[in-house]
This record gives sequence, structure tokens and C-alpha cells, in this order.
Amino acid sequence: MSKRRETKAIRIQTEKTAQKEHSTPLFLTSSFTYDSAEEMAAAFADDSLDVNIYSRFKNPTVDEFIEKIAALEGAEDGVATGTGMAAVFATFMTFLGKGDHLISASAVFGSTHTIVTKYLPKWGIEHSYFNMNDPANIGSLIRPNTKMLYVETPSNPGLDIVDIEELAKICKKNNILLVVDNCFATPAVQQPIPLGADLVLHSATKFIDGQGRVLGGVVVGRKDLVYPLYLFIRNTGPSLSPFNAWVLSKSLETLFIRMDKHADNALKLANALEGHPKLSAVKYPFLTSHPQYTIAKKQMSNGGGILTFELKGGIESGRKFLNELKMLSVTNNLGDSRSIAAHPASTTHSKLSEAERQEVGITPGLIRISVGLEHIDDILADIKQALDKS
Ligand SMILES: Cc1ncc(COP(=O)(O)O)c(C=O)c1O
Repeated sequence: MSKRRETKAIRIQTEKTAQKEHSTPLFLTSSFTYDSAEEMAAAFADDSLDVNIYSRFKNPTVDEFIEKIAALEGAEDGVATGTGMAAVFATFMTFLGKGDHLISASAVFGSTHTIVTKYLPKWGIEHSYFNMNDPANIGSLIRPNTKMLYVETPSNPGLDIVDIEELAKICKKNNILLVVDNCFATPAVQQPIPLGADLVLHSATKFIDGQGRVLGGVVVGRKDLVYPLYLFIRNTGPSLSPFNAWVLSKSLETLFIRMDKHADNALKLANALEGHPKLSAVKYPFLTSHPQYTIAKKQMSNGGGILTFELKGGIESGRKFLNELKMLSVTNNLGDSRSIAAHPASTTHSKLSEAERQEVGITPGLIRISVGLEHIDDILADIKQALDKS
């Protein structure tokens, strides 16, 4: 097998069956059979055995997807989950317990914020938030019981960026696990593990699927960290369906080429919109005006497929803009071949208080564009005509 990740994304595949299929097979089965009672007993005797028993535990199609993501992220091993949120929750539940303390970026996906703020305290897990624009503050938040530092970079939807290498240094020094949600960048654009992260997780529902079809999640890292995660998922059940794993594994074959095109379109769009009279700001990691542009350039190979802008007219202009769009889809998903416009304040982050939204930079007029693979001139024309009317 080539060492090149572009090739691995295409060529890692479940062993050929006797049918000699070319495309990867789909093992859509709940359980697996045994030739004898003794073989079955042996399969159950040791949880660490690499044998197929039941698809909540392990399935060859799911394993293929995990193997590919682990290879792309530069990780030893991984686990897959039914959704990105299941990946986030399983990671918290596996590595945090009563009396432990978590430091999280305040700018994280809305449901992650909800788990940290509303659920973890129920189990006696404390947390502190840090502002991604002021990471120097992290040192002062570390306590003797701090076990994990959690960050999303770039963040959803504010596109804040933090230096993963710098965070890793702090974490190593203080014996804290560094967990990075790499959903916006994907491993085609950014590899947190070689930069020092302990675990990387994804909502595979986004760019990894890339066509808005299935939900999925994945966590990858060192074997000694993945094994307890595997046991948590095997026993509590948020496992990835083999069908979804098959779709996601096929999608990875085109991940690199898609991410190049998403980023190419997004940079062109960001450049074209910067300075537009209806907008007070345009944010994209590879625009020189991005506050963390230097960090983005250091740790990302391109700016990714998401940009945001701020309508001068606030909430009313935001609503009007969405209503005037003719081609872009109005939906809360992202990372699709189809360009999407979303209004985080009224959707994904609506459960946060106004003060919490302000804290993470979600202003009333903020629009998030997931830039698709359509011709850039069509994307730009639709956005421009909607801006003219809003
Ligand atoms: C950065 C990030 N992490 C996690 C999630 C949750 O993923 P899922 O919707 O697959 O549960 C999302 C969903 O939008 C996300 O954007």
C-alpha cells in the first residue's frame, strides 16, 4: 500500500470475498455465525479479541471506514459511532468521571455546548470555557483535576482557529488529554494528531459524507485510548450502522479532491464578498483579514469549505437573505456538494442564551455558507442577488 493518504483513501478496502467484487462489499448483517459452540464461547471469552460477533461491537464494513479515517488522520486506531454527537458524548463519558474537570473552547457546536453545560454537571463533571481568541488564558484554568481539553478548530460556526501544536504542549506538560473536533477541516486539510492531539473526532455527517445522505461519527487516536472507547460503545450502543459506514467509506475515495474544490470555491467567494456594501464582515480561514490567518496557514493546507458573513441589517436582513436565495439550499447541514446557507442564531445555536451566543461570536446577522461544488459563478450570482434584496 502506498504511503500517500490520497491513495489510502481509495485503496484501503475490506478483503475481497469469493465473489471477487471490485467496489467494496457491504456486510449488512446484525450478527455473525460460528462453526461450533467452542468457537462461539471463545469469541465471547475476551473483549479484546479481533473477531466478528455482533455489529454493535464490530463489523467489517465499519472497520474499513475506521481504518481509512485512522490512516488519513495518522492515528493508530479508531471507533465509529452513529452520529458525531455520539462520538463527542462517548469521548466525554469514557475519559471523564465524577470530580473531573474539563476545559473546553466556548466556541463549540451547539449540542456539544449543551452536553458540557447541561449534562456533564449532572454526573459531577466540572467545566471551564476558554475564549479561542485568548488561548493564553488556558493556563489559569488548569486545576489538579483537569483531565481533558476539548476544542473545535475551525469552530462551528464562528470559524475561530486555535494553534493545535501550542495546545498540545500545554496538555503534555499538564498530563491532560487533548481532543480535537476536526469536522470542519477533515483530515484532507488538517491533521491534529501529528500536531500533538491525543484524540480526533468527527461528525462524518458533514464533509466526510459530502453529499448530505447519512449520519455518522468517528474518534481516532492511540490504541490505548481507543480500547476503552470501544468498550464504552460496544456496551452502551451508539454504534455506526454498516450501511452508513459503507456510504461513508465510499465517500472517502473522493475526500481530497472534493475538499480542494470546496476550498477553491470558498476562497473565491470570500474574496468576491469582502467589502460588499451590505456586509460588515466576511470571515474565512485563508483570508488575510481572519484574526488567526497565520495559524490557519500553519496548520491547514487550505481554508476549508465554510465561510461566514455578517449582514449589516441584523436579524431582519438575515431572514430576508435566506428567503431571497434561489439556488442555495436553506438547511442546517453543511459539507454537502450543494451550497447551503444557514442562520445559526435561530437554528443550531438557538438553545444558547443571547449572552452565550455573543460570547462565541454568533451575532443576529451572522450567515454561515457551506460552499458546495457547483460552478463558483452560480454560487456567487445567487448570493449577490439575495444580498441586493436584503
Ligand atoms: C463541528 C461539529 N461537531 C459535531 C457535530 C455533530 O454531528 P452530528 O450531527 O453528526 O451528530 C456537528 C454537527 O453539525 C458539527 O458541526
